[in-house]
Amino acid sequence: MVNTAVTLEKEKIKSFLLPENRDVDISVFESIDSTNTEAKRRLENGDKRTMLICAEGQTAGRGRHGKSFYSPEKTGVYFTLVIHPDIPLSLAARATTAAAVSVVEAIRELTDKKPLIKWVNDVFLDGKKICGILTEAVSPTDRTKAESLIIGIGINISTSLFPDEIKDTASSLGENELDKNELIARICNYLFGYAESLNNPTHIEKYKKYSLVLGKEITYEKNGRAFFARAVDIDENGSLKVETENGIETLDSGEISIKLSDK
Ligand code: BTN
Repeated sequence: MVNTAVTLEKEKIKSFLLPENRDVDISVFESIDSTNTEAKRRLENGDKRTMLICAEGQTAGRGRHGKSFYSPEKTGVYFTLVIHPDIPLSLAARATTAAAVSVVEAIRELTDKKPLIKWVNDVFLDGKKICGILTEAVSPTDRTKAESLIIGIGINISTSLFPDEIKDTASSLGENELDKNELIARICNYLFGYAESLNNPTHIEKYKKYSLVLGKEITYEKNGRAFFARAVDIDENGSLKVETENGIETLDSGEISIKLSDK
């Protein structure tokens, strides 16, 4: 396993942030259970700051649908941006699509790799997953607003050994010399920008441009049944429009996972 050249440093991350983003509170951990869980702990303790929590490794990294996220030390970046957009809870999924675009744009800027987005929260390179995104919203008891958004991003940079259950589907960016501090900062610069306009999102056209699924045959599961469909559009909320034998269906990103079909 090859370690990436430069390790995480708070001041280095800050130096790559745009001046208007440098107020964010940055912490760096060599190892932590999960940067999203740490964000939750801080919010529960009343911390209202905009926060960037980064780790070299996670011992209990979390993914969507209760899955774990493999987060070995040094060979990836695992970080969480906490923002307080005060938007309707129904718009929180937009942060996930904004994060995916931010990851793709930053990687394209810093490397010659051309990653694409697999709906809704995965970034792929050469047909394999190199990045996952987990957005969690914190809302008051009436569940109307997303007061805070916990946006967690994990990117495999140089990981070469994966556990059996993901070894055929996961991969890495393969950029051993990449400065992880700069990568995190550039992703945050994009994400802060897109987060300004979650009410009227500016990133969806780019999300569609980088989509791995639009125009493709997919399979999805609903109520225990598998369906074949063609992915035809993605709306402002990140919902996927698919053409089925029964007409157009809208798949909600929170509930459904898809597979690219080999049909
Ligand atoms: C997924 O693939 O389903 C989402 C994975 C999200 C992983 C990131 S790593 C940083 C942050 N902390 C976590 O525990 N999860 C997210």
